[in-house]
Amino acid sequence: MGSFRYPLHIKTVEWVDGKVRWLDTRFLPHEEIYHESDDYERIARAIENMEIRGAPAIGVAAALAIAATAHRFREEDIERLRSTLINAINRLRRTRPTAYNLYWALTRIERIVLDRNYTSAYELRKAVIEEAIRIWREDIEVNMKLGEIGSELIEDGDVILTHCNAGALATAGFGTALGVIRAAWYRGKKIQVIATETRPVLQGARLTVWELKREGIPVKLVTDNMVGYLMYKGIITKVIVGADRILADGHVINKIGTYMIALAAHRHNIPFYVAAPTSTIDLNTSLNEVVIEERHPDEVRYVMNKVLITLPDVEVYNPSFDITPPDLVTAIITEKGIIRPPYEANIRAYVGKQ
Ligand code: MRU
Repeated sequence: MGSFRYPLHIKTVEWVDGKVRWLDTRFLPHEEIYHESDDYERIARAIENMEIRGAPAIGVAAALAIAATAHRFREEDIERLRSTLINAINRLRRTRPTAYNLYWALTRIERIVLDRNYTSAYELRKAVIEEAIRIWREDIEVNMKLGEIGSELIEDGDVILTHCNAGALATAGFGTALGVIRAAWYRGKKIQVIATETRPVLQGARLTVWELKREGIPVKLVTDNMVGYLMYKGIITKVIVGADRILADGHVINKIGTYMIALAAHRHNIPFYVAAPTSTIDLNTSLNEVVIEERHPDEVRYVMNKVLITLPDVEVYNPSFDITPPDLVTAIITEKGIIRPPYEANIRAYVGKQ
């Protein structure tokens, strides 16, 4: 793939001198705090507690965590290196269950770790590091590509609703849904964005607003329960969201609240687009096998771990993702093109495309 076509203002996860460096998204928009580590356990915890979040960013961070583990391994014994890396892969696989990119990236690395053609620790270490760096750089390229492809769908005057954060802060850079919005903006299209706050973790209010404001892209913030009314009033012309996993039949698993937005968009004949790299597409899992992560109840009881907004012992539901059926999805924007229904046939054809 070619070199970057658009400016890259935000570096969410990167490889710096044998270590993983990441922006801790928990403190945004108030503080920009970066961490560095070559300890896969530390990086696994960063994914679990959402310092690093968003499906592609999780995949890239996990791949780079394995690279850092290989980088710091100084012995000559290749079998010890293999077992160290497999332990790290297994640990990282258990961090979050829903985002497919995590499994996709770790499987790419695991293939190399298990490849018996590598006969020295030096060779294996080098190959693992190179593959992880490729995964990282490809993520940025792919986002720019899908952003450019998706920007063709955007027209002057569009008011685009997005949910959660599918931006630079959810990827290695540039973003998926926000990648489409960014590309349209850089190509001079006159657009406005509406960001939902995205309770309970507030990725929209904290992250999407921060990203777009930094680049001067017009954005208005709304609470999640305002979407239906804005659609009823004719204010929203398009919806673009990201995805944590897309199944072969077109079911889209994304941040909790996405399904409600898709339902409302359908009622009002508003196009509902999903922007995601093909590394988010899972051709092997069926709908009833998908694991929807349930997070800690305190995320709902408190706002930002600080303000208790209910009784401390109230029982809560806290599913982190929901499932949008294919008939509500107008099209899926990928780096290989725009996939339209019938998804059953078209998704496989696009994923297989070179
Ligand atoms: O719980 P999060 O913040 O990791 O959830 C993120 C989302 O749901 C995003 O929409 C999705 O990962 C796509 S990011 C390009």
